[in-house]
Amino acid sequence: MANNMSTLTLLVIITCTNLALAYEPSPLQDFCVADFNSQVRVNGFACLDPKQVTAAHFLFKGLNIPGNTSNPLGVFINRPTVNEIPGLNTLGISTVRVDYAPRGVVPPHRHPRAAEILLVLEGTVLAGFVTSDPENKLISKVLQKGDVFAFPFGLIHFQQNVGYGNAVSIGFLSSQNPGVISIANSVFGTNPPIKDDVLAKAFQVDKTIVHQLQAPYN
Ligand SMILES: *[C@@H]1O[C@H](CO)[C@@H](O)[C@H](O)[C@H]1NC(C)=O
Repeated sequence: MANNMSTLTLLVIITCTNLALAYEPSPLQDFCVADFNSQVRVNGFACLDPKQVTAAHFLFKGLNIPGNTSNPLGVFINRPTVNEIPGLNTLGISTVRVDYAPRGVVPPHRHPRAAEILLVLEGTVLAGFVTSDPENKLISKVLQKGDVFAFPFGLIHFQQNVGYGNAVSIGFLSSQNPGVISIANSVFGTNPPIKDDVLAKAFQVDKTIVHQLQAPYN
C-alpha cells in the first residue's frame, strides 16, 4: 500500500513537472539568442551561434521615454518581446511600459502565455483581474506609486489611471512572447465579423447594439 502511494505521488510529480514544461522550457544552455534568419522551425526561435552573441542581443533602449497617450484609450503601451530583444528567446520573460493619461484605460485583455507582475512608477492605477474559480469574481486594487500587483496566468485583467495626473507602470511577464487577446476586439472586431445573431444571443442584447459595438472596427 505504502509502495502504491509513493508510486502515485511520483506519477503526480512527474505529470506536474511535464505540465510546467509545457510553457517556457528550461534552457539547455546559457542562452539561445533568437536567430531570425534561420529556416529551422522550433518552438520559439533557433539559436544563434553563441560565439556571435553580443550585449546588443540582450539590450533594449528607450523604456524611460513617455509614450503618446493622445488616443481614444488614453494609454501608450511599449512592449518589447523576443522580437525586439532576441536574447529573451527561451528565457520565459519580457517587460512592458504603460503610460496613462488621466482616466486612460488598458482594456480587459489576457495573455495566453504569461502571468504578469505590475509595478506602478507614477500616479494612481486601478488594477483588476477576473477569476475562473470562483467564476467571474473581480479582484481589484487601487495602486499607488511603488505598489506591485500580480495578474495570474492567462486571466482577464485591466488597468485604469484613476488619479489626476499621468501615470506610468512597468510590467514583467513570464513569457518571451506573452501574446495579447483584447476581449472587446476579439469579440466585436474579428475579421470576418462574428455573426450578429450569435453576439446578440451571447450578450442578450438587440442586434443594433451589436452593430454599435462592431462599428469602431469597420
Ligand atoms: C500624439 O498623437 C496625436 C494623435 O495621433 C498627434 O496629433 C500628436 O501630434 C502627437 N504628439 C506628439 C508629441 O507626438
